[in-house]
Amino acid sequence: MSERSTQETPRDDREISHPVFAAIYDRVPQSWLLRSHREYLTRALSGRVLEIGAGDGAMFPYAAAAGTDIEYHAIEPDPHMRTRAESAARERGFPVDLRSARAESLPYPDESVDVVLASLVFCTIEDPDAALAEAARVLKPGGEFRFLEHVRADGWRGSGQDLLNPLWKRAAGGCQLNRETIPRFVSHDAFSVVEIERLRFGIFPVRPFVRGTLRRR
Ligand SMILES: C[S@@+](CC[C@H](N)C(=O)[O-])C[C@H]1O[C@@H](n2cnc3c(N)ncnc32)[C@H](O)[C@@H]1O
Repeated sequence: MSERSTQETPRDDREISHPVFAAIYDRVPQSWLLRSHREYLTRALSGRVLEIGAGDGAMFPYAAAAGTDIEYHAIEPDPHMRTRAESAARERGFPVDLRSARAESLPYPDESVDVVLASLVFCTIEDPDAALAEAARVLKPGGEFRFLEHVRADGWRGSGQDLLNPLWKRAAGGCQLNRETIPRFVSHDAFSVVEIERLRFGIFPVRPFVRGTLRRR
């Protein structure tokens, strides 16, 4: 069963709240594996940057190191994650405009953002098509959508992910193992592909990872 047949109708009135997942998220031994990819996302940042689904603020140190010429905004709907992200920003002295919002409905005007960052979030967003449309809406023409995501594998691994997905989704804060995220990104009319790279890390069932950059037409 692929993601299309398991997709639920998004309901904005249902709270996104995963206190246990938020509490253990930064204990998952992922930070060293992801370091170079977080650096990729934050390379040469400037202007207004919007991170969607900021989680516990894992991207903030990288964004802080990326330059001073940035106005960093982030949205995060889960209050438990948001509290952690607020602490992360405070501890670093990194100024972030952190808002409670969903990627499907961004509280920003059209063409007001230079770079949108999505790190490990399109696996979890309930309506990824709406979120991508929102990213396109808020980006200025020529602006960049940069992402790092894990996606559905090919072959038997993909079938295994389909089987595990219902259980995984419950245990991992709504994360889905079998999202077909890249076809969604590359086929969107509002974007041209700058680069997409399939990465050689991750352990089944969270594998493969893909990172890349799209440019707003
Ligand atoms: C796996 S965490 C990734 C956190 C962070 N971006 C990182 O790189 O570590 C996924 C995050 O997406 C958030 N999320 C879930 N649904 C969302 C939505 N509809 N819009 C924006 N963020 C969402 C979750 O609350 C969670 O904090």
